Amino acid sequence: YIHIEENELGFCYVQGSIDSNNGGFTGTGFANTDNVNGSQINWKVNVDFDGYYALEWRYANGSGTARTASVSANGAQSEISFPTTGSWDSWLLDSTTLFLKAGVNDVILSANTSSGLANIDSLTVHGDGVAAADCN
Ligand code: GCU
Ligand code: CA
Repeated sequence: YIHIEENELGFCYVQGSIDSNNGGFTGTGFANTDNVNGSQINWKVNVDFDGYYALEWRYANGSGTARTASVSANGAQSEISFPTTGSWDSWLLDSTTLFLKAGVNDVILSANTSSGLANIDSLTVHGDGVAAADCN
């Protein structure tokens, strides 16, 4: 598996900011998207084999409402919902599976509501032959 924090290889972009004002995060902070529909976080992940992989995010959603999102890579897409965690400094894990192609995958997590994404602390991609890839 590979675990990617916001300051590490494989973390490419957040449409918003890297923040540290809400506690309990790992690494140097967390990715806070703008609260608009379609706001994104992007990662680059290399896998050795075509197949379905579990993508797991550590997240906080201090709002009272689940924040839904789509995640896509190389034309494949899955849906995920980030339920409320009760406060912005309470973090939980949430995962979905996504088909990845052998080689570099541009993983795009995109908000499906006008609230944007939950705050995202890290991405873990489970499986063998998985590595973070250079964003350039
Ligand atoms: C609060 C919180 C942010 C969060 C935002 C939101 O402002 O401090 O970290 O991103 O709510 O509603 O998305
Ligand atoms: Ca936000």
